[in-house]
Amino acid sequence: MNNNNIEWTKLAEVNSFQDNPQQLLKIKRDDILVIKDEEKFYAINNRCPHLGLALNVGGCDMKNKTVHCKFHSSDFSFETGEAKEWLNVKGFEKFMMWLFTKFDPDAKKMMTMEPKPVETFHTKVEDDHVWVGIDNSA
Ligand code: FES
Repeated sequence: MNNNNIEWTKLAEVNSFQDNPQQLLKIKRDDILVIKDEEKFYAINNRCPHLGLALNVGGCDMKNKTVHCKFHSSDFSFETGEAKEWLNVKGFEKFMMWLFTKFDPDAKKMMTMEPKPVETFHTKVEDDHVWVGIDNSA
C-alpha cells in the first residue's frame, strides 16, 4: 500500500465518541460509519454491499466486532469488512423471500448474490480528532 494515495479527512473530536461510540459522518457524498471499540476506531462505508441500504440502523455487536444489516440479516466485520453472515433471513421473512424469487427474476438475482465485503477505510487520531483515510489508488 502506498500511503501517498490516501486522502485524509478530519471528521470528529475523539471526545465526542465517549457518549456516542458509533457515528454516521460524511465524506463528500459517502456516509461513513465510524465505530469506537475500546481505544480503536474503525470506519466503514454505511452502504450495505448487498443492496446499498444503511448499515447503521442495524447496530453493532461489539463482542463479535460486527455491524448488522437489518434488511436481510447480514453481518460484516467492522475490522476487515468481511461478510460473517450473508442473507441469513429466517422464518416468515425467509418464506416471503422464497416466494418473491419464484415470480420475480430480479428478486432472485438479489437474493442469490454471492457474499461481498463492506468497504473499510483507514483511521487515525491526530489533533484530538478522528481522521478517516480513503485510498484513492484502488
Ligand atoms: S441490504 Fe443489507 S443484507 Fe440486503
